[in-house]
Amino acid sequence: MFKQFIYFTLFLILIACNAEKRPVSALLQYDAQIDTILPQMTLEEKIEMLHGKYLFASAGVERLGIADFNYADGPFGIREELQPNSWMPLGWENDQATFFPTGSALAATWSPELAYDYGTGLAREARFRGKDMLLGPAINIQRIPTGGRTYEYLSEDPVLSAALSVAYTKGVQDNGVAACLKHYALNNQENNRGTVNVIVGERAMREIYLPPFEAAVVEADAFGVMAAYNKVNGWWCAENDMLLNKILRDEWGFAGLVVSDWNGTHSTVQSIMNGLNVEMPGKRFLGQALLDSVKAGIVPEAVIDQRVREILRVRLAIKPVPAEEANQQMTSQAAQQEIAYQVASKSIVLLKNDGVLPLELSGKPVIAVIGDNATRKMASGGVGAGVKALYEVTPLEGLTKKIDDRATLVYEQGYEPEKLDWARMFGRKSKEQIEKDDREAALRNAELNEKALAVAATADIVLFFAGNNRVVETEASDRMSIQLPSGQDELMKKLYEVNPNIITILVSGAPNDLSTVNPLSRALLLSWFNGTEGGNALADVLLGNISPSGKLPFTLPIKLEDSPAYALRNYPQGEKAKDVFVNLVDETDAISKIEGEKDQPALNEDPNTAYYSEESLVGYRWFETKNLPVMYPFGHGLSYSTFNYSDLKVNKEKFGGNDEIILRFKLENTGSMAADEVVQAYVHRMNPSVDWPMKELKAFQRVSLQAGESKMLELNIPVSKLRYWNESNQQWESDLCELELMVGTSVSDIKLRKTILLK
Ligand code: BGC
Repeated sequence: MFKQFIYFTLFLILIACNAEKRPVSALLQYDAQIDTILPQMTLEEKIEMLHGKYLFASAGVERLGIADFNYADGPFGIREELQPNSWMPLGWENDQATFFPTGSALAATWSPELAYDYGTGLAREARFRGKDMLLGPAINIQRIPTGGRTYEYLSEDPVLSAALSVAYTKGVQDNGVAACLKHYALNNQENNRGTVNVIVGERAMREIYLPPFEAAVVEADAFGVMAAYNKVNGWWCAENDMLLNKILRDEWGFAGLVVSDWNGTHSTVQSIMNGLNVEMPGKRFLGQALLDSVKAGIVPEAVIDQRVREILRVRLAIKPVPAEEANQQMTSQAAQQEIAYQVASKSIVLLKNDGVLPLELSGKPVIAVIGDNATRKMASGGVGAGVKALYEVTPLEGLTKKIDDRATLVYEQGYEPEKLDWARMFGRKSKEQIEKDDREAALRNAELNEKALAVAATADIVLFFAGNNRVVETEASDRMSIQLPSGQDELMKKLYEVNPNIITILVSGAPNDLSTVNPLSRALLLSWFNGTEGGNALADVLLGNISPSGKLPFTLPIKLEDSPAYALRNYPQGEKAKDVFVNLVDETDAISKIEGEKDQPALNEDPNTAYYSEESLVGYRWFETKNLPVMYPFGHGLSYSTFNYSDLKVNKEKFGGNDEIILRFKLENTGSMAADEVVQAYVHRMNPSVDWPMKELKAFQRVSLQAGESKMLELNIPVSKLRYWNESNQQWESDLCELELMVGTSVSDIKLRKTILLK
């Protein structure tokens, strides 16, 4: 008996040693208080908390002093105030918010510090408006270059996405607002997002798609998660026991609330049992139907108590903004605008430069500024995420102000931009009308081309503002291609004929095909949907007031077909249905195909199944492993300065499972201006026992250096972060092998290498 006791104790100690050291959620401190609240609540009051009360609020219990819970979109600014039960704006004056650079721009800073500030800024403005939960960050992996919400999301890489998600979440929650990680999980396409079933292997899911969510839950104690519209391996995300109960709650220790995406709930019993807390925005499933299910004994009241407890924890952690304090001042304030500037100024990626940048103004040149994107505001547009910005400095405004009388700027629109057309989007336009609209747009485009050429021909230099806009990149729809829209490639060729002195600035949140503009541009920049201060930041970079320091958070492929989901014929899936969102604005519309719209040629014939057969080879992992050339690699971004990497030393030669690999090396700014560099550490397994991508990012750091300054830097990689998910054993395991450590300035520009052994 005693022996058995000893064995059992040893066994427990062993389990404790092996168990992941997971921080306990701060939300659990409210459980004792909740124990006293729950018995005072009627079943009806509990059920009232489990669904939408208004479009962006769920109920509290007034009788017990529990305030309603207010949600705000997110993820890059506080959304304007809408009518309680419709998507119509209230038309307030002081709900004008700061428009922060969108997700991929934030990610291009590779700066968790800036992501923290960004979260701080959002939370402050959310508090001004009496909001409890920010519907952000949006952290799905950018799987396909055409994804409609690529601009909202962060990166194709889980390590970069995770680090920024953690910092953003902490910034929000340290400032009194709950973050809501969205869209959990595998919502990697917009076409058919409301019907698609994602078939994904567990290893890819664990290693690529879940890490940003896991990190934000485990390391930042995120209080909220939004269940995505799609299915994962056969189950809707809002009733997915594997995702919500087993992984999120049991494994990661999530203690907060799960809210459905708007109209993304599909059942009563499954949803509540499998982990959903709040159905938004209606109560079709978690209202009367749930009450009936409890009364009929199908759903135990203990489950209702648990779901209410999870909501109450967040309610108690987030102090409601008193009604007399909310909405008393303009939402956008100087401190947040400064954060928006800081992020924008460090996000701009210089892809190419033959020395034409920074701009030389000494001869008072005539600068032709060509392109609709030089004057277009990007705070709102498309469907969904948008900000009623207090102001937005466009590129032309930024340049005009900062250049002043040092040059002559002449602007021409250049091309007819894609415009928002709700009737077309919702299938209420005939085929004939669509064709007529397209013909007229082509005519206007030709006229605008001519005017632009006339201006370019007599200018000293041309700044061509190309790229997408917020109609091209939009929620609810993926792009048909990554081609520059509105005939921009054709315009570029014509511009080059009249004036080859061209600098191209891409205003896009996602990849474009650069085969035409890249060779015809002397310099090429990616300046994103860059927020309220975007134009000022861009002007500072073009004029050399600051050095560009953004790095690509995704690969720019040569052509779309090279990218993994396309190459493997997993995407597109053919026929596109009307989006789930249509049902939100017009209940009478069933999900059906939009007449007159072209479908993307189907590579995979089943419109409602997305096969992720590329497994972990997403983004650069695919290109590096398959040895395919790209237009610009992940992590790439030039500077006006130059850097020298040297003296790499690693703390040991052999590493055990609990060790930490410490890479030390010297970085010197060898140029003549102060600049930031983002150093990146990748790993390559040399003799592995399982398949691995050729290279994987494992650590990075943004560093500021004065001209001539050098610093010793340190990048840390815990060996536990090098494990893989063993699908048979259902656990993380080490692959003991030789490992090449690589330090570089992009995934393909490696400066220093060292081989170590995992034993
Ligand atoms: C989007 C969410 C958003 C919600 C509320 C949905 O259509 O997918 O990201 O938070 O609407 O606006």
